[in-house]
Amino acid sequence: MSLRLLQGGQVPTKLSRITKVPSMSEFKVNVRDNGPLLISGAVTICDAAGSTFDTGGKETVALCRCGQSARRPFCDGAHNRCGFQASERAVVQ
Ligand code: FES
Repeated sequence: MSLRLLQGGQVPTKLSRITKVPSMSEFKVNVRDNGPLLISGAVTICDAAGSTFDTGGKETVALCRCGQSARRPFCDGAHNRCGFQASERAVVQ
């Protein structure tokens, strides 16, 4: 079965409903050495209840992964002060 993508990654279905399908090219996650996750592109950051965090319209947001930020889920630079170390590398396939 082939689907024709519409603008914004929408896919027409048999019932003529429009379903939003995330596109792999809509955002990028950059895992920083000893720091946050930088997310660039069209993303919405939600809490566990589904409420949306205000990202101030920024095209890139930094999410804390050290657990020490006072602005979680966002990075506030605390990783520099707490000595957070992480330098994972993707496995080349
Ligand atoms: S990764 Fe920056 S404050 Fe946690």
